[in-house]
Amino acid sequence: MKVTVSRKAHFNAAHRLYRKDWSDEQNETQFGKCANPHYHGHNYELIVHVTGPIDPETGYVLDMKVLKDLIKTEVEDKMDHKNLNEEVVEFSNLIPTAENIAVVIYNWLQPHLDPSHQLSITLYETPRNFVSYSG
Ligand code: NI
Repeated sequence: MKVTVSRKAHFNAAHRLYRKDWSDEQNETQFGKCANPHYHGHNYELIVHVTGPIDPETGYVLDMKVLKDLIKTEVEDKMDHKNLNEEVVEFSNLIPTAENIAVVIYNWLQPHLDPSHQLSITLYETPRNFVSYSG
């Protein structure tokens, strides 16, 4: 029997969607306003899902306090109020789309989880646009 527990988190960050090897015109055609050279911000909403067996001793899949602290140290502290292109090394050569941000978050969190746990990331870039990644 497996159960999924989920924790919501939040961070604000700025980004620019562009390829360094494209001209400004190409970038604007592909990425529109998101290619703005002066960057722009989003209020990202993150949902971290962990699926696993219930520990018969505690009744938990995972202590939510542990998950909360993990999200803070591994995600919020690295992303919140940052310019993702300039300040987060993972995006020095990776376009910080919601898709790529979700994969980066997954890769930060996954090594800290028990092997019996399946991780899934849902990331909202706007209230209507969101992506999911489960490895
Ligand atoms: Ni954007």
